[in-house]
Amino acid sequence: MRVLALESSCDESAAAVLDSESGLLAHELFSQIDLHRAYGGVVPELASRDHVRRLLPLVRTVLAAASTTPAQLHGVAYTAGPGLIGALLTGAALARSLAFAWRVPAIGVHHLEGHLLAPLLEAEAPPFPHVALLVSGGHTLLIEVSRIGSYRVLGASRDDAAGEAFDKTAKLLGLPYPGGPQLAELARHGRPGVFAFPRPMLDRPGLEFSFSGLKTAVLRAVRDQEMGEQRRADVARGVEDAIVDTLVAKSLRALEQTGQAVLVVSGGVSANRSLRARLTAAVGARGARVYYPRIEFSTDNAAMIAVAGLARLRAGQHDTLAIQARAQWPLESLPAVAADHPLNETATST
Ligand code: KG4
Ligand code: ZN
Repeated sequence: MRVLALESSCDESAAAVLDSESGLLAHELFSQIDLHRAYGGVVPELASRDHVRRLLPLVRTVLAAASTTPAQLHGVAYTAGPGLIGALLTGAALARSLAFAWRVPAIGVHHLEGHLLAPLLEAEAPPFPHVALLVSGGHTLLIEVSRIGSYRVLGASRDDAAGEAFDKTAKLLGLPYPGGPQLAELARHGRPGVFAFPRPMLDRPGLEFSFSGLKTAVLRAVRDQEMGEQRRADVARGVEDAIVDTLVAKSLRALEQTGQAVLVVSGGVSANRSLRARLTAAVGARGARVYYPRIEFSTDNAAMIAVAGLARLRAGQHDTLAIQARAQWPLESLPAVAADHPLNETATST
């Protein structure tokens, strides 16, 4: 089975072609970072308008790169939520229309399920059941994953998401949008322990997070201070260490509470190298294993939407003719899928 997938939930327009036998045939992404930078964040209306311009050319590009004609496709997957409603609607309308014209089923994919299943594109796929740490710009979640589509949220952030904490503190340091990766880069030159920012909720039992206090702590540290290069790097290091420490400690706690021995880490913040290094060491020391998507598929992309869409289409699920887009969509409401991998072995062996 071969599917085309579209992603347009926020500020990235992306398309991919995935085949259950031969794997990922093509994927392309257009980032709107330059468009939104002047505003210091994503402007929803500008995002929607740009998706309209970008998506169809991206579809043409990936179909050509995958040497695939519409007649060879068995379905079209698209991000149906959660996300910016206008941005979602652009991808949903295009995907639903293409599927209608090509007489194949369409499937609306949950963006977070895409993140959760992105590691299935790697040669060594994580086994089920497992615990997932999903850390993106909008979500910080620990999830018990029994199988594809069967998700139980163990803990979430009460306020800012981990990616949001990176972005907001980066802004306070004068770094341009999107700040997360830039703050991580600056932190590499920072000295550990110069700034000891709070590790919220670590001292309390449970698996919830709270990152909003970091902004205030960083604001205090940079306010009325002469901020030389070294000092800025030290602040960045302090922020990164506080977030990473919290994520590592709660992930270990989740493994312990559930008795699971496999951790999957996905979402934009899982691209953070310090988080990866610290988690790999800490989880390994407990005799458990950790799996990540490749760095490129940690942040938003269409390949992950293709994996989730393929899993559901192969299970016989598909949408009605309605155009589906949901700004909010509880992950736990999704139906389960029986198979534990949407790709046949041949697809990921290269
Ligand atoms: O998953 P994603 O691409 O989009 C959402 O679904 O939200 O995640 C984007 C988030 C942003 O907050 C971005 O700053 C953060 O992931 N991010 C990082 C890194 N790369 C992306 N945060 C820390 N370190 C990174 N290397
Ligand atoms: Zn995302």
